[in-house]
Amino acid sequence: MQKDCILGIDIGGSGVKGAIVDIRRGEFATDRLRIPTPTPHTPKNILGAINDIVEHFKWSGVMGCGFPGVIRSQIIETAANIGGKNFIGVNLAEQIGQTCGCEAWVVNDADAAGIAEMRFGAGKGNKGVVMVITVGTGIGVSMFTNGVLVPNLEFGHLRMRDKSSRKNYAAEKLCSDAVRKSHDMQWRHWAERFNKYLQYVHNLCWPDLVVLGGGIASKSDKFMKYINVDCDVVVAKLENRAGIIGSAYNAWRMLKK
Ligand code: BGC
Repeated sequence: MQKDCILGIDIGGSGVKGAIVDIRRGEFATDRLRIPTPTPHTPKNILGAINDIVEHFKWSGVMGCGFPGVIRSQIIETAANIGGKNFIGVNLAEQIGQTCGCEAWVVNDADAAGIAEMRFGAGKGNKGVVMVITVGTGIGVSMFTNGVLVPNLEFGHLRMRDKSSRKNYAAEKLCSDAVRKSHDMQWRHWAERFNKYLQYVHNLCWPDLVVLGGGIASKSDKFMKYINVDCDVVVAKLENRAGIIGSAYNAWRMLKK
């Protein structure tokens, strides 16, 4: 393996995914391995899946990992869609080191996807305000101005009104991809709801560009025609590879550069 390759892992509510990433080109240097997220979502089980990926790629050295929650000083502060309280207070980087023998750097999964899109993808070279929104099990948001990240934005938890029940919910409980699938929603119905969310976020942050990523990125022909916000909206160039590429690139930046 060349010296500019780093193992990237993206922990999600339904899958733990990993690949070795060529961090100079922002591309996978191997196939992607996906392991269904083991249940219950305990640190021990998730660390087991991470270790399976490390062993599959016979990896040693530095690796990056994206996690769906707030990460401060490598400590997990929230974990809404994975493991609930099990992960709170855990230093995941340290645990990965102990379990897998790798030096790891952990980052919020949406921040990882955003870092990759800004460095290699749809946001490359954009000096304005760019929001990268990942839609999967939850909704993750990262925001950059002049290429600089504001970490742990957690805008998937903005409260929105559900017209039918007349109650307020976290946005990701109304328009994540998991909600679309579990309610068997028509694309148009889902997209109209999601568009309201985009308008809401737009009115708070006034981005110049919104990049849509996560699981929905590969299905853009189904929903982009219904998206109408007062700024440019594009699909993530790295599609759902961005989380893995960004976590690897970020670990290289933090630990090796
Ligand atoms: C989490 C975020 C994460 C997003 C996407 C949300 O539930 O709170 O930290 O980025 O899901 O996975």
